[in-house]
Amino acid sequence: MESITTYMQHDHELIDGIAERASAAAAGGDSATLAREAAQFLQRLERHIEMEEHVLFPAFEQRTGMREAGPSVQMRAEHEQMRGILAQMRDAMKANDAPGYRSASRALFEILVPHNMKEEQMMYPMLDDAMGADGAALLADVKAMAIA
Ligand SMILES: [Fe+2]
Ligand SMILES: [Fe+2]
Repeated sequence: MESITTYMQHDHELIDGIAERASAAAAGGDSATLAREAAQFLQRLERHIEMEEHVLFPAFEQRTGMREAGPSVQMRAEHEQMRGILAQMRDAMKANDAPGYRSASRALFEILVPHNMKEEQMMYPMLDDAMGADGAALLADVKAMAIA
C-alpha cells in the first residue's frame, strides 16, 4: 500500500534525478538544459517543502503533540537553512552563472542528503504510524499539491 513514506521518498528520488541532470548540464556547458532542469529542480523542491510544512508537519504536530521540540521542528529549521541557498541558486540561474549554481548546489546537498535520510527513516514513518487509517486522506491532500 502506498504510504506517506513511500510517496515522499519517491518525490525525493524524482527531485534528486532532476538535480543530477542539472549538474551534468552545468558541468558540460549545456546552458539551455541547465536552465530548464534547474528551474524544474527549484520549483519541485520548493513545492515538496510546502507539502511538508503546510500539510504533513502540522498533521504530525497535531497527532503527536510534539510542537515545541521534535523531528518536525528540526526539519523546519533545516528547510530554513536551505532557503537561503535556494535563493542563491535562483540568482545564479538569472545571471547565467553556471559555476555559481554548481557551488550553491553542492552546499545545498550537504544539507539535503542527511535531511532527506532523516525524513525517510524517522519523520515519515512516525507520521504514517501516528495517522493510521487517516493517512490516506492526508496523502491525498499532499498529492493535490503535486506538480504534474
Ligand atoms: Fe524536508
Ligand atoms: Fe522531504
